[in-house]
Amino acid sequence: MKKTGNSIRFLLNDSLTEIDFTQNPGLKPTTTVLNYLRSMPFYKGVKEGCAEGDCGACTVVIAEKSGDRLVYKSIDSCLVFLPMLHGKQLLTVEHLADGEALHPVQKAMVDQNGSQCGYCTPGIVMSLFGLSKNHRDPSMEVVKDALTGNLCRCTGYRPIVDAAHVCCKGEDHDKFSENKDEVSGKLDELCRDKTPLSIISHQQRYLKPLTLTDALAFRKEFPSAVIVSGATDVALRQTKKKEFLPEMLDISDIAELKYFKEDNHTYSIGSGLHIEDLRHHADGKLPAMKHMLDIFGSLQIRNLATIGGNIGSASPIGDTLPLLIAYKASIKLQSHKNERFSSIEDFITGYRSIDLFPDELITEVQIPIPAIGRIIKSYKVSRRKDLDISTVSGGFSLLTENGTIKEIILAFGGMAAQPIRAFKTENFLTGKPWTEAVIVEAMEILFKEFKPWSDARAEVGYRNLVARNLLLKFYEESKGQVL
Ligand SMILES: Cc1cc2nc3c(=O)[nH]c(=O)nc-3n(C[C@H](O)[C@H](O)[C@H](O)COP(=O)(O)OP(=O)(O)OC[C@H]3O[C@@H](n4cnc5c(N)ncnc54)[C@H](O)[C@@H]3O)c2cc1C
Ligand code: FES
Ligand code: FES
Repeated sequence: MKKTGNSIRFLLNDSLTEIDFTQNPGLKPTTTVLNYLRSMPFYKGVKEGCAEGDCGACTVVIAEKSGDRLVYKSIDSCLVFLPMLHGKQLLTVEHLADGEALHPVQKAMVDQNGSQCGYCTPGIVMSLFGLSKNHRDPSMEVVKDALTGNLCRCTGYRPIVDAAHVCCKGEDHDKFSENKDEVSGKLDELCRDKTPLSIISHQQRYLKPLTLTDALAFRKEFPSAVIVSGATDVALRQTKKKEFLPEMLDISDIAELKYFKEDNHTYSIGSGLHIEDLRHHADGKLPAMKHMLDIFGSLQIRNLATIGGNIGSASPIGDTLPLLIAYKASIKLQSHKNERFSSIEDFITGYRSIDLFPDELITEVQIPIPAIGRIIKSYKVSRRKDLDISTVSGGFSLLTENGTIKEIILAFGGMAAQPIRAFKTENFLTGKPWTEAVIVEAMEILFKEFKPWSDARAEVGYRNLVARNLLLKFYEESKGQVL
């Protein structure tokens, strides 16, 4: 396999920028985009608030090609390793104004008194810029969603929300829309060469294949390299735990892994599909998935995070996992020479542990299209609704016949070291009528079925109570729909 050397290339605003890691002693392949920007005198707008994707003070926007389209995405630069910029355009708050003229987003923030403290405002402006590039006259729901990842602790969001509505009115006309074709052409040029990158610098090896074939070849050659997809979990190993990651395999730019397809029986989802894109595809097709993804992280997180990464993390509170169990999903695993399938339940083997061979990648998730009459719902209980991880989550599936339970799946997150099914409760319910009296009995079984842990988020009794009550909620929400 031909490999290129130690450089990445991207557009910083409209300037072609090349970073050769061997020539830049201050920059490692695992330097975050936030730290890269702040290392330069002109880029102090971007701030580090939390370095873990929670505050949005580091928000920047990237523009990238998706087929023929140029798409703009707000992201948390504290979670992005520099080579993930390869082939993209990076835009910061410093790039928005056109000479002396403020960008419409900046002007709206000033006019509506939305510009409050200097720490959060640049990130908020970038989130609004991302919003303005993707929506005209957005609903309040869309505006709030775009701002969920930006924390402001001073005077509140009202003037910022007003600015959002003002700057998204009418046609999208700014210097970026004028230069769209030129930028698009430059990015096409940058992305044309699919030769994989193999960066060796600072005792780190950072591999960045651009095709699946090359990714699988790298996986075989470097089986202990840490796989990086959206990096929203992996980056924290570097930024928070200060782990040294000697070998990385970055699969974030493999177009072949970013798809959503359907045939008569199955939805097939590429493992590299971003959670935000999956959320849009799920709308109208997989309502329980859409419901769960509406409250997954923030827009900046969903624009980076992938479905493959959520499965690969195998977190006991990974939000898609109980639901994928309820959907009876299976996972396609590919190596350079083989492919195999595993049910999601078999694939997750313990606390953050998966049945993945050292030469394999998760390449696809398959969800059988639910039969008519099957009721599937998702639940997430967390300390706050937005941008929080689950205390307890649930993915439930019910199939009835003449009011009697033919099959039920009750899968929970946050109740054990891994996402887990309530088999005792399921067995009790199977064959019984879907009635309140039966559910009340089942709730007592469920209350005792798990032995979860206590932590800062919740204690054992609370988790058991929530799990039990979610069954009642499921009953209440589905009783009018059973066959
Ligand atoms: C602020 C914040 C909020 C969050 N909110 C939520 C939330 O609401 N719900 C939730 O569930 N999670 C949440 N997360 C966790 C995280 O965003 C998700 O787990 C996400 O789906 C991970 O995807 P990724 O592509 O970023 O994974 P990465 O960080 O790139 O990888 C995660 C793990 O999966 C492995 N992996 C990735 N892709 C593959 C593959 N194709 N084959 C094999 N292994 C692979 C990696 O090696 C790694 O071990 C949050 C994280 C942050 C920082
Ligand atoms: S610094 Fe807080 S989200 Fe990046
Ligand atoms: S704008 Fe910084 S705390 Fe409100």
